[in-house]
Amino acid sequence: MSERQKLVAANWKMNGSLASNQPLIAEIVAGLGETSGSEVAVCPPFIYLSQIADSLQGSSVVLGAQNVSHLDAGAYTGETAVSMLKDFGCQYVIVGHSERRSLYAETDERVAEKFLQVVQSGLRPILCVGELLEEREAGETEDVIARQLDAVIELAGIENFSQAVVAYEPVWAIGTGKTATPEQAQQVHEFIRLRLARHDSDVADAIRILYGGSVKADNAEQLFNMADIDGGLIGGASLIAQDFLTICKA
Ligand code: PGA
Repeated sequence: MSERQKLVAANWKMNGSLASNQPLIAEIVAGLGETSGSEVAVCPPFIYLSQIADSLQGSSVVLGAQNVSHLDAGAYTGETAVSMLKDFGCQYVIVGHSERRSLYAETDERVAEKFLQVVQSGLRPILCVGELLEEREAGETEDVIARQLDAVIELAGIENFSQAVVAYEPVWAIGTGKTATPEQAQQVHEFIRLRLARHDSDVADAIRILYGGSVKADNAEQLFNMADIDGGLIGGASLIAQDFLTICKA
């Protein structure tokens, strides 16, 4: 089995300001020092990418974006192309976050197109998948995850997953304070790895699968200790420097 380096990614969502970002990122960078064994990424809103890129100069923390257009360039008001994210030094791009799927009507196919844009530009997608509460209660969790994954495999090809990260984010756990138990999460993470292994076992073995959904300072370690959990995608707790640092150190 390959040794997978853990990744902790902060998803700031639509939070922050020029004034509040500065002390937050400074405290994170200072708190991590040079010794963290895990990779740490920060995904601020687009408009603050430049500010955060400057603050990350000389640190080991890398920059990511929360979304991207599925198209290259042109008359698409309000959209941001992957080449622009590259311009600002982004290394990761979150695609298919459940808030994008549910609030902005992103389909599995659209998410797959975004994934492809990101890998083709040499950046790394963090592909989010996850079931709704009613889907879990109806016993459909694996069907939903399989459908979300298969759409991307079909369009982008399994080989492009060697550059990707998957994030399992049960929708009922996002921002609700209701975390999946380590066992519940592990079960789905293992399912994701097996689903990818049907196509390429080396890719499946090497890929990092993050857990997201109410990861907090006091539950991160238990989650990250599970065999197939390779880190976390952190929303609310990433806005509080000390909480985020504790999670990174877990
Ligand atoms: P949360 O969000 O940590 O606030 O639950 C996670 C996410 O949506 O990525």
